[in-house]
Amino acid sequence: MESDDCSQCFSTGQSAQERGLAHVPECYEVPVSERPSLNSPEAQIPVVDLTGLQLGPTHRPAIVESIRQACQRFGCFQVVNHGIDQTVLNKALGAAKEYFLLPANEKLELMSDDVHKPVRYGTSLKDGVDKIQFWRVFLKHYANPLNDWVQCWPENPPTYREHMGAYSSEVQKLGVELTGAITESLGLGPKYVSDKIEQGMQVITTNCYPPCPQPRLTLGLPPHSDYSCLTILLQGSPGLEIMDMQDGGSWKLVPNVDGSLLVHIGDHLEVLSNGLYKSVVHRAVVNSQKTRISIASFHSLGLDEKMEPAFQLVNENHPKAYKGSSFRDFLNFLSANDIGQGNICFLDTLKIE
Ligand code: OGA
Ligand code: NI
Repeated sequence: MESDDCSQCFSTGQSAQERGLAHVPECYEVPVSERPSLNSPEAQIPVVDLTGLQLGPTHRPAIVESIRQACQRFGCFQVVNHGIDQTVLNKALGAAKEYFLLPANEKLELMSDDVHKPVRYGTSLKDGVDKIQFWRVFLKHYANPLNDWVQCWPENPPTYREHMGAYSSEVQKLGVELTGAITESLGLGPKYVSDKIEQGMQVITTNCYPPCPQPRLTLGLPPHSDYSCLTILLQGSPGLEIMDMQDGGSWKLVPNVDGSLLVHIGDHLEVLSNGLYKSVVHRAVVNSQKTRISIASFHSLGLDEKMEPAFQLVNENHPKAYKGSSFRDFLNFLSANDIGQGNICFLDTLKIE
């Protein structure tokens, strides 16, 4: 019975998550030590007000300083007054929600476990391939420049391209701005990589976490850090937890702040900073009540452009701590490894002993 539940996931595109099972099939159970308590305390993540970031010397230095402190303490921060209108956020979340409500056969057209595909639908991480499956359904697509990719996005729901496209291009601009502020906070100036980010890869991942009958047994996403330089996350409701390295590695829930976006330091920023900033480890927990939607925008350099530690941050006391790597290197790693097992991560493969 249990194995039947799982074998159907990939072949039908109707994952256990979507079939309304009254129990969690065995292949979705995470080891006991990794199960969520579902009552993690809230993380005291700084909320950075971006008003005046572009206005130069009046406000910028204080904002950059708050970002520096947040990156050092948590590897993430929330932003408000980021310039993206609430209706744009709501419409993007609405478009994502409608997409996931489409009949399975329609979503199956984009279903693939090939991580190199620029547009793909799937469940878990690599459905039907990894040992443990996660309680998530997702749609991923490249998004920059928008005109090159938008015609590959789903045609249904009819507003999807317009609403997700509007959000994608705004969040891309924000990503470029924030990258400038972050490199400035590292003493590298605002232009250190922001032009490359502007020309670089943007991957939009919309995540859907359906209600789960036994949310303590499973996870929506396993603990991981993002490969990106920067991830900007829009969440429709709470469910994201970060690992607080300065509090014994305990899990903390990211609180809901109306209209905010969460900014994650990714692996490639850790590399660029030569370890001064750490990419934040996070996971998604699920609940039995309602579907949770989130939209993650991953910003990085071009597909084959290698991110290296900034030479200004490499010296006798801080020798070069990471090898260079590209987004394609990450995809190859993801394709070859089962990251849900928790014993291997991309960043570790970059560290120089
Ligand atoms: C991700 C991710 C978190 C969330 O897509 O990499 O970490 O809350 N998402 O959906
Ligand atoms: Ni992530």
